[in-house]
Amino acid sequence: MGNDTIKKTLLIAGLLSLVCSAFVSSSAVFLRPNQARNKDLDRKKNILLAAGLYEEGKSVEELFQKFEVRIVELASGQYEESLDATTFDQRKAARSTELGLDVSGKKGLAGIKRKSRYAPVFVSRDDQGTLQQLVLPVHGKGLWSTMYGFLALENDLSTIKGFAFYEHGETPGLGGEVDNPDWKAQWVGKKAFDKSGQIGIKVLKGKVVPNSPNAQFEADGLSGATITTRGIDALLQYWLGAEGFKPFLTQFRKEEGV
Ligand SMILES: Cc1cc2nc3c(=O)[nH]c(=O)nc-3n(C[C@H](O)[C@H](O)[C@H](O)COP(=O)(O)O)c2cc1C
Repeated sequence: MGNDTIKKTLLIAGLLSLVCSAFVSSSAVFLRPNQARNKDLDRKKNILLAAGLYEEGKSVEELFQKFEVRIVELASGQYEESLDATTFDQRKAARSTELGLDVSGKKGLAGIKRKSRYAPVFVSRDDQGTLQQLVLPVHGKGLWSTMYGFLALENDLSTIKGFAFYEHGETPGLGGEVDNPDWKAQWVGKKAFDKSGQIGIKVLKGKVVPNSPNAQFEADGLSGATITTRGIDALLQYWLGAEGFKPFLTQFRKEEGV
């Protein structure tokens, strides 16, 4: 058979695509554990960043050991010991019939259709065992996407230590300004709850007026991104409220004597 026959061309093309597809699919399979590990590391890094505990050049795994991870049943606020905190996946749980809940059609749910009945909480203590911080995972709809983040509270369980999103699909320069270090920095020191224990924090459409009486409960919105801004406000109200972490926070305040 000559080299320039149609048969040979098709044979070579077929063989080549077979080899390539085998290479691509086996790479995908081999790389999957690496991808999962990197995703887990990234999540841990973001928890550390929200808590202000991330140190450049230090091992994320080592730094993350400062945290005790517990799974909480949101409705009761009680710890759920039967779920493994090291492997618990809140998004997977939301999809499951056993661990998840249909919340579509309910108002004030930060645009979430299904949610997990359980959520992890991350507690850090000093060497004497004194509470340092509590980090809570939060999520809700922006304009284009579900935004996933972490809210870190200081040991008074009201002052915000940090708030950052680690995953979203909002427009760079508009809703994507949630990643702007200046926007993230404004959260430090804001109060999530007022003196009576009610949710105080609010995201404004515009900018906070410095030194105004409510400034400690207010954060700047994102300009040109009212929908993302509203989404962030809604998800904070939701996750700090009765459908979110309020039952746990009530319980935890008692346990910690806060
Ligand atoms: C290409 C494009 C991308 C946009 N991305 C966002 C976004 O990420 N978040 C958002 O709230 N609004 C976004 N908007 C704007 C919204 O459609 C809407 O106009 C805006 O939320 C109104 O905000 P404003 O009242 O602050 O101008 C985008 C608009 C366009 C045309």
